[in-house]
Amino acid sequence: MQAKIEQKRSNLRQRLLGIASDLPMHKLQLVVTTTAASLPALAVVALVLLLLATARRPCSFLDAYRSGVSLPSPSGPSRPRAAAVRAPSGCDIFRPGEWVPDDDAPYYTNLTCPLIQEHQNCMKYGRPDRGFLRWRWRPDGCDLPRFDAAAFFDAVRNSSLAFVGDSLARNHMQSLMCLLSKVAYPKDISTTTNPEFRTMRYEPYNFTMAIFWSPFLVRGHQPDPRRHMWDIYLDEPDAAWRDAVSGFDRVVLSAATWFTRPAVFYAGGRVVGCHYCLVPGVPDLTLRYSLRMAFRSALRVLTAGGPGRFKGTVILRTLSPTSHFEGGEWDRGGDCRRTRPFAANETRMAGLDLDLHKVQVEEFARAKAEAEASGGGTRLVLMDTTAAMVLRPDGHPSRYGHWPHENVTLYHDCVHWCLPGPIDAWNDMLLQMLLRDPS
Ligand SMILES: *[C@@H]1O[C@H](CO)[C@@H](O)[C@H](O)[C@H]1NC(C)=O
Ligand SMILES: *[C@@H]1O[C@H](CO)[C@@H](O)[C@H](O)[C@H]1NC(C)=O
Ligand SMILES: *[C@@H]1O[C@H](CO)[C@@H](O)[C@H](O)[C@H]1NC(C)=O
Ligand SMILES: *[C@@H]1O[C@H](CO)[C@@H](O)[C@H](O)[C@H]1NC(C)=O
Ligand SMILES: *[C@@H]1O[C@H](CO)[C@@H](O)[C@H](O)[C@H]1NC(C)=O
Repeated sequence: MQAKIEQKRSNLRQRLLGIASDLPMHKLQLVVTTTAASLPALAVVALVLLLLATARRPCSFLDAYRSGVSLPSPSGPSRPRAAAVRAPSGCDIFRPGEWVPDDDAPYYTNLTCPLIQEHQNCMKYGRPDRGFLRWRWRPDGCDLPRFDAAAFFDAVRNSSLAFVGDSLARNHMQSLMCLLSKVAYPKDISTTTNPEFRTMRYEPYNFTMAIFWSPFLVRGHQPDPRRHMWDIYLDEPDAAWRDAVSGFDRVVLSAATWFTRPAVFYAGGRVVGCHYCLVPGVPDLTLRYSLRMAFRSALRVLTAGGPGRFKGTVILRTLSPTSHFEGGEWDRGGDCRRTRPFAANETRMAGLDLDLHKVQVEEFARAKAEAEASGGGTRLVLMDTTAAMVLRPDGHPSRYGHWPHENVTLYHDCVHWCLPGPIDAWNDMLLQMLLRDPS
């Protein structure tokens, strides 16, 4: 009898360790200690882990909440805590800098965070290497403190944050929710079922976070889906977010990737040019032009002020690199198979990334000058992540964003970022921005 129990206990332990092999070391330690201590406690842990592991494949990144995986907040909001670690105020946390080894990473896994979008859950789809997780961004001249969920909640208490952009904005927000899941899980309070428009609430902190899908920031539509040609209305900020963000305290604005698609540009209701439309008589102004004008329109409406308009802080996040496909374009066999970052002297921002980054920085400076001149009360800050991310060709899903037999458009995904992964550094940076710039 005793032997049988021992055997059972040992099997359970084996299984748990198998499941838990991806947990960060301190979590693993916890599990092992529990194993030795008490079987009933262990069974509960095992059940939770199994629930997580067998959860239905979510069709939206927030389905995990609806399926009941959401766990109660492990610590109360009023828990006393040490002050947040701040980077020195004179240090540019964005650039220049380099990625240095980080033995403590990763800070969550697909088991501790049930919110990872399928296509960014690289470990689930068999990515064999783990080395790409163990790096942190170190700006020249200072350390960038690691994300601190409690400090983040302190900084955003009684406020709201909106993300406006494409799937990289969603990637960013999911990384943030995973990092915050150490302290709390949000409640989905969205008023629509559209997975691209979600509103998440962290009630104990009176903090609301939302995402608005708007890949061009301005109105864009595809008149005939078979032709792969878009119409982009460069002077019309997208109604998908324009009015809805007015009540938010902060907006993280980003876009770039979608501008690479062939498109006809409109302004004042007329065709003014295009990107790769090959229509005689229509000048090819390239995506540099459409990106510039779209950001100009979006920033203008955000900084215009006036009744019912946005009055908070605009955070412009510069583009995530478009340049990590090697050996071909994204649809011509290009892939990203590196397993470690570039050193700072091995590569630098160049080509299209450099051009688009320049456009964004220029439009940011222009909008900031205009906002200051008009005294409208909006603030603008630049979240200049591009240079750091250019060094991380190893952080994308590549072929581990789906099962090998699955027929997906972006078979080798060198655009999005694995979770956990280097994109988590965006939130290390975001927290420092909030600490420097309380509004
Ligand atoms: C988490 O990743 C592991 C591989 O590390 C995989 O076996 C498992 O299915 C993934 N679980 C979830 C819930 O994504
Ligand atoms: C929540 O925050 C808002 C400001 O965003 C404030 O007006 C409100 O009083 C806060 N509510 C609570 C319960 O703290
Ligand atoms: C949040 O709002 C509540 C209610 O308005 C207020 O009592 C509290 O001091 C606020 N906290 C912060 C950090 O602003
Ligand atoms: C890049 O810098 C490293 C030290 O950080 C050095 O060992 C290496 O030789 C340099 N490589 C080049 C191409 O300059
Ligand atoms: C993959 O899907 C596309 C469009 O959905 C289709 O045209 C193509 O034939 C499919 N390829 C395979 C190998 O199933």
